[in-house]
Amino acid sequence: MNRYGSGEAPQSLRARGEFSAVMAASRNDLQPATIEHLLDREQARFLDTHPRSAAAWEEGKKHFLYGGPSHWMRRWAGGFPIYAASARGAHISDIDGHDYVDFALGDTGGMCGHAPEAVTRAALRQLQNGTTMMLPTEDSLWVGAELTRRFGLPYWTLTTSATDANRGAIRIARMITGRDKVLVFSGCYHGGVEEAHVEIRDGRVGMRNMIHPNGVDHSAVSRVVEFNDVAALEEALSHGDVACVLTEPLMTNFGMIPVAEGFHAALREITRRTGTVLIIDETHTISSGPGGYTALHGLKPDILVAGKAIAGGIPAGIFGVSREIAERLWKIVPMVNPRVRQSAHLASAAPLPATRSPSPPCAPCWKRC
Ligand SMILES: Cc1ncc(COP(=O)(O)O)c(C=O)c1O
Repeated sequence: MNRYGSGEAPQSLRARGEFSAVMAASRNDLQPATIEHLLDREQARFLDTHPRSAAAWEEGKKHFLYGGPSHWMRRWAGGFPIYAASARGAHISDIDGHDYVDFALGDTGGMCGHAPEAVTRAALRQLQNGTTMMLPTEDSLWVGAELTRRFGLPYWTLTTSATDANRGAIRIARMITGRDKVLVFSGCYHGGVEEAHVEIRDGRVGMRNMIHPNGVDHSAVSRVVEFNDVAALEEALSHGDVACVLTEPLMTNFGMIPVAEGFHAALREITRRTGTVLIIDETHTISSGPGGYTALHGLKPDILVAGKAIAGGIPAGIFGVSREIAERLWKIVPMVNPRVRQSAHLASAAPLPATRSPSPPCAPCWKRC
């Protein structure tokens, strides 16, 4: 029996004479020199079959801080990323003319397939009607009602990414509890949320794998415990200084860590007892069903976050809050009454007389001269 689950080597590997090296790897006796040799050979093959992507990468390095538009694009084992040409359904094609079956689907953003027709049509219609009006549209009424129908929470906010949604949720948790700490589980990923860039290292809060020191003292605002560890959770929340627990319903960014029997019940009970807001991030696990893992398993988060697939492949995020959280928030942040609170109107009114003043700030120096 081999690592492929049968006595046979896959045809393509045998044909390339790689089978003995792979078998050596599976026996854990791969020497560094062998790894180097295999890597060199695979990188040469990758370069050979992707010349246009290689050239695009060289060009991109001239103008992008990390070589490509996003920082992680520099981490390809092949030495450079594949440049995409187009994507439809479950397929992506690259600029070198290869077609791939796409098992990543934009890290779930394209879960319903790339370029789904209904989304494309709706997006095109909106592009023609204007995209950045800073005003609500009637469409938003349907979206809010539908989110409540699916996920059960009554009040929603739309954001431009799941990161933004997590940040908004944490901010509300801090406002209503007056506490600053955020508890996450080791190995978590919740986007560009500083407080969640942590894991347990040598028994204490350390920076998550591949996060570089950036002057932030994570241990000041983050608590981190192992997923499924009820005793550690109990201890970490017992001090009464944690604003919220931010967690996926099961862990999907550290391999997959399934949830242990009874963990969600314990998590809900301990967070309620300690006055800690429970935020469930469904960004990946929304694939569990129309209402995500939360609806499927009857979870009762205070705040639910989702992103990626929620907009059919267009970057977006959402978060919904329970009635209790909303009522606590409204006490701190009431609906604006223009007769009492003028700030929003003042902010938009003030620049007008300022620019009409005798010496308005002017380009290119933006000083009053
Ligand atoms: C669980 C989870 N939350 C949030 C995010 C961040 O999503 P976005 O890229 O929309 O900010 C990710 C990204 O992979 C994620 O896996």
